[in-house]
Amino acid sequence: MKILMVCLGNICRSPLAEGILKSKVNPKTVIVDSAGTGAWHSGQLPDKRSIAIAKKYNIDITDQRARIFTPEDFITFDKIYVMDKSNYVNVCRLAPSNEYIDKVELILNESNPGKDLEVPDPYYGGDQGFENVYQMLDEVCEQINNKIKNASL
Ligand code: 4NP
Repeated sequence: MKILMVCLGNICRSPLAEGILKSKVNPKTVIVDSAGTGAWHSGQLPDKRSIAIAKKYNIDITDQRARIFTPEDFITFDKIYVMDKSNYVNVCRLAPSNEYIDKVELILNESNPGKDLEVPDPYYGGDQGFENVYQMLDEVCEQINNKIKNASL
């Protein structure tokens, strides 16, 4: 099972989603990566505030470097989780054909099915925004891991 987490910059939300899910899954059977729909931060470390909130919960995300989402990711990954609706539109635009769009899901639909809730972009806010994003992602990644273990993902 290969899972890709996607946000806009690949420096705030999706690096946290990657690090949190990696901390829960069996690394021998589940590959987790992340990417951004924008290239401004390509090659960069996650945002300092994401690094700090992950560290607070004993997760190290400093091995990650931002990269752009590519159409090839539709082939490589089984499931593509996006953080918000604008990520959804930007990712789906790059699908090689329509059937690949089934791989794309708003991540919070795993914890709140059908509600189309978004993980808010914390980039322009304060530290509380990062704590909030961390808690949302920790809860949903727990559920994603349960689904993987039940072979229902
Ligand atoms: P992310 O947050 O999508 O969660 O990584 C952002 C990071 C950078 C920018 C926007 C959102 N930016 O405009 O540079």
